[in-house]
Amino acid sequence: MPVTFERHLPDCLQPCSERTPSKSRHCQSWRPPALGWGCCSWKPGSGPGRRFVPGLEPGSTKFLGGSGESKQSAYRVGFVGAGGIAPEHADALGMLECAEIVSVCDLQEQRAQAFSKKFNIPHAYSSVQEMLAHEQLDVVHMLTQPQHHLNPAFACLRAGVNVYIEKPLSRSTSDCRLLADEALKYGRLAGVNHHLTHSRLIDEIVQATRNRRLGRINHVSVAFCAGAGKLPTREVNHFMFSTPSAILFEYCPHSFSLIRRFLGRAIEVTALASDSKRLSNGNKYYCSWEIAAIAERGTAQLYFSAGQGNDEISISVYGQDASAHADIKRGTLIFHENSPYPITAHLRDSLNNAKRLQKQGISRFLNDYMVKLKLRPARLTNSFYPALANYYSAPRAGNSFSEDALAGHDVVAYCELAAANMKIVD
Ligand SMILES: NC(=O)c1ccc[n+]([C@@H]2O[C@H](COP(=O)([O-])OP(=O)(O)OC[C@H]3O[C@@H](n4cnc5c(N)ncnc54)[C@H](O)[C@@H]3O)[C@@H](O)[C@H]2O)c1
Repeated sequence: MPVTFERHLPDCLQPCSERTPSKSRHCQSWRPPALGWGCCSWKPGSGPGRRFVPGLEPGSTKFLGGSGESKQSAYRVGFVGAGGIAPEHADALGMLECAEIVSVCDLQEQRAQAFSKKFNIPHAYSSVQEMLAHEQLDVVHMLTQPQHHLNPAFACLRAGVNVYIEKPLSRSTSDCRLLADEALKYGRLAGVNHHLTHSRLIDEIVQATRNRRLGRINHVSVAFCAGAGKLPTREVNHFMFSTPSAILFEYCPHSFSLIRRFLGRAIEVTALASDSKRLSNGNKYYCSWEIAAIAERGTAQLYFSAGQGNDEISISVYGQDASAHADIKRGTLIFHENSPYPITAHLRDSLNNAKRLQKQGISRFLNDYMVKLKLRPARLTNSFYPALANYYSAPRAGNSFSEDALAGHDVVAYCELAAANMKIVD
């Protein structure tokens, strides 16, 4: 039972209509006037360019994902970039009934050809312009490295095509603003793949916050460890190794998108980097990062580790009345809540959480096992599926998509501030 009662939820957890203008210093100068916090600019069939789904009135169809309806009215999707992350998008999109990949382009034409063959995609191109000239697309997934997102995304938006862009939205907040402005101008939806923010555990914490179970959120702590197998140290020309801080833009959008979800935009961020490693081209990267942030609604801390230890992703959200602790890798979530019965409080807390952990562990095991045996749908364990399902269903349901260009901008602002206030202790 909550001991204190908080009237105000963080802005980022409010429905769009109840949100208030931000006080963040970093981004004060820029907010597109027509957009509320996290509100998308686009509705099906609105704005210039071709209608989102020909023949369908806005909101006239329900989300088709998993319903067994035909793919005839599915959104026609194109990919820009057929590199490392593209198969994950293709797999997750294959689980959505409402979307169909009809074309792929990559500057390396052979890559596009091989990808189209592997995923049974009808057309492959070597440039976005060629693809847009030949295809009638509803959505393009931008799967290039972030320094290459901007121009193809502009081309798509100007052709009236919605975009779903891999994180980070771009390499700088100024580019993110251009992108958000362009999406607004052409009335299209620019979404960012902040897929962790759509995970079931995060939804549960958001729900607990909305139900006033946590009280006012004071602090968020995230641990994000990308183990040795995750770091492509042989790709020395990858943008993440271009400068010592570039790695923040590659990995930390995951964590910053979670922090932003609970605390709003960054006001100040500082970073300490240590444990350097040298790449074969002589460039250095840093394995251990300790990042502290002051955000609009509270403080945050991020431990980011690259290329060492195990893969881990966990988040703790500390509220006035309770705290929530999610282990995203293992799919478990526990709460520590205040109790009016101090003598038994800790015992009850331990027993409740033990029960919760047991249930979650068994359910996770069964899902993994049943999916492997193909007895349950693969979307149950796919980490990109909830984000894509939300993106594709939002316009049809008349909802906003929380991780839009503004969210992308705010997350890049966290990265920029961390990079600007970075101290190396080697
Ligand atoms: N969400 C996640 O968990 C996750 C994981 C890994 C990577 N990513 C993100 O995915 C993005 C892509 O990363 P990657 O590792 O797949 O990169 P990659 O370098 O493997 O692939 C990018 C591809 O885009 C192509 N390309 C570049 N510019 C192009 C253009 N103008 N038109 C057509 N094709 C073009 C390149 O030729 C290349 O094949 C990055 O933003 C990265 O941060 C996200």
